[in-house]
Amino acid sequence: MSRPSEALLDLSALRHNVALARALAPTAKLMAVVKANAYGHGAVLMARALEPLTEALAVACLEEAMELRSAGIRCPILLLQGVFEQQELTLAAQEQLWLTIDNATQLAWLEQTPLPAPVHCWLKIDTGMHRLGVTPEQVGDFHRRLLACGKLAAAPVLTTHFACADDLRHPATEQQITDFEQLTSGLGGARSAANSPATLAWPRSHYEWIRPGFMLWGNSPFTTPHAQADCLRPVMALRSRVISMRDIAAGECVGYGANWCATRASRIATITVGYGDGYPRSAQNGTPVLVNGLRAPLAGRVSMDMITVDVTDLPPVAIGDPVTLWGQGLPVGEVAQHAATTGYELLTRMPARIPRKVINE
Ligand SMILES: Cc1ncc(COP(=O)(O)O)c(C=O)c1O
Repeated sequence: MSRPSEALLDLSALRHNVALARALAPTAKLMAVVKANAYGHGAVLMARALEPLTEALAVACLEEAMELRSAGIRCPILLLQGVFEQQELTLAAQEQLWLTIDNATQLAWLEQTPLPAPVHCWLKIDTGMHRLGVTPEQVGDFHRRLLACGKLAAAPVLTTHFACADDLRHPATEQQITDFEQLTSGLGGARSAANSPATLAWPRSHYEWIRPGFMLWGNSPFTTPHAQADCLRPVMALRSRVISMRDIAAGECVGYGANWCATRASRIATITVGYGDGYPRSAQNGTPVLVNGLRAPLAGRVSMDMITVDVTDLPPVAIGDPVTLWGQGLPVGEVAQHAATTGYELLTRMPARIPRKVINE
């Protein structure tokens, strides 16, 4: 027997989402971003499924890349933040990890460190996000020094990252695209800018490599309807079961802090999933939950291991009935909106406590 809470991971949905990204950017190569445990889905499970479907993977750091290499993933893996210490360079080169160079310290380490093999480098340019990347004034010098350092396996890929691509009316994205094109013109080499929202909605930014993460897991990065994004299929279904049922009278309250009180005679279902399982404690009363496939509102504060749902308006619900917290029919982004966060955060915070089960391999 095991606790009936699990994350089902549908690999046919993953293949569908990769195909959609490819259809949107048919001439670009696809680098799948699998950092933060593949946004909570399980880095090794997802990397194994993605390796035959994509040209490369991307992670945040050497540790994440080594987890994949140790599991036998052989495809190119980009370190999106590059290395944090000079000695990491040797292992990165040995393991054929691709480096991001985004500041003068990283460039100097590369120039000074004898490496066991040539490396692929991505030169990151700050076009307005102001988080990582070289300034527009530094681009020419960095590019020359990279070409001259004698450590590169190929010309550097020129890359940048968007700050506001998920806001379709925000003027910053066009400006970043224009600046990126102007800064990279004449340098040669491949370019990469598009994360999920840009892959879906900013075709001018597709260039030679797209770098989606969130959309591959089947979720729209937009908070408003979007024709292509709404065709994505969620890879993860967070599922559980009803473990207790009770009737309460009008005026009685439910859960810690008694913050939901019945305004009528009500039927409450208790479900064995809580914030210890990645369901957000900040989810408000009224957050939709699928019980037997039908929507019912969260009623009462989320506990560590349980939630309570008002099923008064549903056909009879019994102990053992299936519950979906997010997945097909209930996007994680919609739950996130009721918890004042994003689907990115909910997925990424999924703890090891929840078993991941792959279906449709
Ligand atoms: C540099 C970089 N590229 C691509 C991505 C993928 O973004 P998304 O998950 O929105 O597709 C990320 C994610 O944060 C990133 O940091």
